[in-house]
Amino acid sequence: MEKRELLYQGKAKDVYATCNPDYLIIEFKDDATAFDGLKRGQITNKGEINNRISTIIFRLLEDNGIHTHFYKQFSAREMLVKKLNILKVEVVVRNISAGSLSRRLGIEEGLELNSPILEFYYKDDALKDPMINEYHIYALSLATPEQVSGITCLAFKINDILKEHLLSKKMLLVDFKLEFGLHREALMLGDEISPDTCRFWDASTHDKLDKDRFRRDLGGVTEAYAEVLKRLEGA
Ligand code: TMP
Repeated sequence: MEKRELLYQGKAKDVYATCNPDYLIIEFKDDATAFDGLKRGQITNKGEINNRISTIIFRLLEDNGIHTHFYKQFSAREMLVKKLNILKVEVVVRNISAGSLSRRLGIEEGLELNSPILEFYYKDDALKDPMINEYHIYALSLATPEQVSGITCLAFKINDILKEHLLSKKMLLVDFKLEFGLHREALMLGDEISPDTCRFWDASTHDKLDKDRFRRDLGGVTEAYAEVLKRLEGA
């Protein structure tokens, strides 16, 4: 597959056309932002590490019957994916309290939730991705009821698969964000799954192995991302 023109520049990834209109190339960058772009920086080797982590996780999900946009790793920093029409709804699943959930509800971080929480956010950078519910989604035609039940079911299934797999690698899946899209009418998982879009904690020490190290200036950011990769690559 031949790489063609740059189509879109994101905060952490760039997207290129290919010679096949059904496929795109995603380039993972070292650039990092937080707090809706207010904080900016670079995380050394992040692009390469996140490409490899996302590749491992998309393959795991595909092996478990989840359709994703992943086609193959294209180069160290690039992934070849099916082109999706991305739904403007982001889905967050939470197993343990942290981040905006703790802030919004005034609960300490690290509480195991009785059942997973699923939240929807309107994918709009200019509006800072506000939280929405199903009524907003239907009222604004962001997705159909069938699509919402599809993404809900997929998000919980992905949570079960990832939670179990990460625990086998001595990590807790605290929470994560998913994006879905349509490839010729078929609903599938898009974007990336990496320490940029998930919270991973060491299962025994609860050390943070994700982008919170960057957001909160905790240091050891590259080391934490590399540790996640090392554990996922381990037998
Ligand atoms: P939050 O606690 O800040 O709402 O984040 C919940 C999860 O979603 C966390 O794993 C990080 C991920 N996330 C993104 O991938 N992109 C974002 O823009 C935000 C705010 C969170």
